[in-house]
Amino acid sequence: MRREAILRSIYDPANRADPYPLFAELRREPASWQEDGPDAAGTWVVSTYREIVAILHDPRCSSDLRKGDKTGGPRTSMDPYNFIRLDPPDHDRLRRLAMRHFGPPERPEYVSSLRPEIQRITTRLVDALHDERRFDVVDRVAHSLPVAVICTILGVPEQDQPRFHVWVEVLVKSLGAHAPEARMQQEEATVALSAYMTALVKLRREHPTDDMLSRMANDTAGAMEDPYLVATLVLLLIAGHETTVNLIANGVLTLLRHPALLDRLRREPELVIGAVEELLRYEPPVQLVPGRTTLEEIPLAGATIPKGVLVTLALAAGNRDPARFPDPDRFDPERRDNAHLGFGSGIHYCFGAPLARVEAQTALLELARRLDRPRLVVDPPPYRVSPILRGPRELLVEIDGVRSAEGR
Ligand code: HEM
Repeated sequence: MRREAILRSIYDPANRADPYPLFAELRREPASWQEDGPDAAGTWVVSTYREIVAILHDPRCSSDLRKGDKTGGPRTSMDPYNFIRLDPPDHDRLRRLAMRHFGPPERPEYVSSLRPEIQRITTRLVDALHDERRFDVVDRVAHSLPVAVICTILGVPEQDQPRFHVWVEVLVKSLGAHAPEARMQQEEATVALSAYMTALVKLRREHPTDDMLSRMANDTAGAMEDPYLVATLVLLLIAGHETTVNLIANGVLTLLRHPALLDRLRREPELVIGAVEELLRYEPPVQLVPGRTTLEEIPLAGATIPKGVLVTLALAAGNRDPARFPDPDRFDPERRDNAHLGFGSGIHYCFGAPLARVEAQTALLELARRLDRPRLVVDPPPYRVSPILRGPRELLVEIDGVRSAEGR
């Protein structure tokens, strides 16, 4: 294989079930220029743990696509308002204003206060499997839980949730795509979602409620200007959607491939905390972070990344770097010193990490305890198209029954 075509092979759906040998190939050069998707101009890729962390903490590497001359500019009209696509000081200001309603220092108890609601939704989803002997984990559990939770947090009415699904699917599918049709669909979905959120903000200003959207829309002490507010709400909705779906689905798949561990989890529920951390390392839902831009030339591990080019961080490669993690291809929920890159690192470190952890822990534990003799029907399962947010499209499982919630 040509060295500069490794990323292209990672993009190839035929390699989606096991991209890790390709990530190992990538790591042979910590920073390399790569052709990416079939229709794209190419990107520098950073693939070793130490170098990924260095770049994620380097102010010479920007998240703002307006700043590079070879980056093609912002992907959607909302990008210039979206803090994941901004640099300091705007990034830090907007992130802090959103955090006022989500976590420390102002609301340190918020995410743990959601635990009973997350458990209630999970119990209901597993109860509904009662008469099934074969079902799709993605459709019946992994997908429904994060959508229900983020919509509860934001105060999106239940009857509107199916519409979101369609928009979010389009946005996720077009991630990293360069073809004009994909970019156009991405923009259309962005416009539709922001129109919906703008209307909801207006409604909550007239009739305030206690959800995060209403609090942000009516926050007089730390108000965001409206375009930033709407972009942030859309970001929260999208960022926590497919990622958490994939974490749960990857989790069920990994546990079913390690039956002894699944057994242990039933007896030792506290093991789920380490299991979720290890999943974020071993099968990270965000495999690649594309779209950083170099503001200056950056020397890195013997290479020189030029100024003004796109950089992609291969988190999935860093997570299996043997220089950082002993025996990296082994799934070990009791791994010590597991500072994985599943949630990124640096100033853009995942905003929703505490929530994603609670959701995945709750779902995996509930399924482990209540499904009677679960087994995989198809291994490997079919995967979604995206190499960036990677996870099974469908995960068929057979069971002998569902234990009652009281008996778990
Ligand atoms: C398993 C689930 C999740 C994974 C694996 C994940 C992963 C990530 C990663 C890797 C980043 C860094 C992106 C970058 O450096 O450009 C990120 C950022 C972000 N995530 Fe998550 N995420 C998850 C769930 C969530 C949830 C539930 C939410 C919302 C409640 C969320 C909101 C965000 C936001 C807003 C950012 C941007 C942070 C910033 O730019 O400062 N994520 N996430």
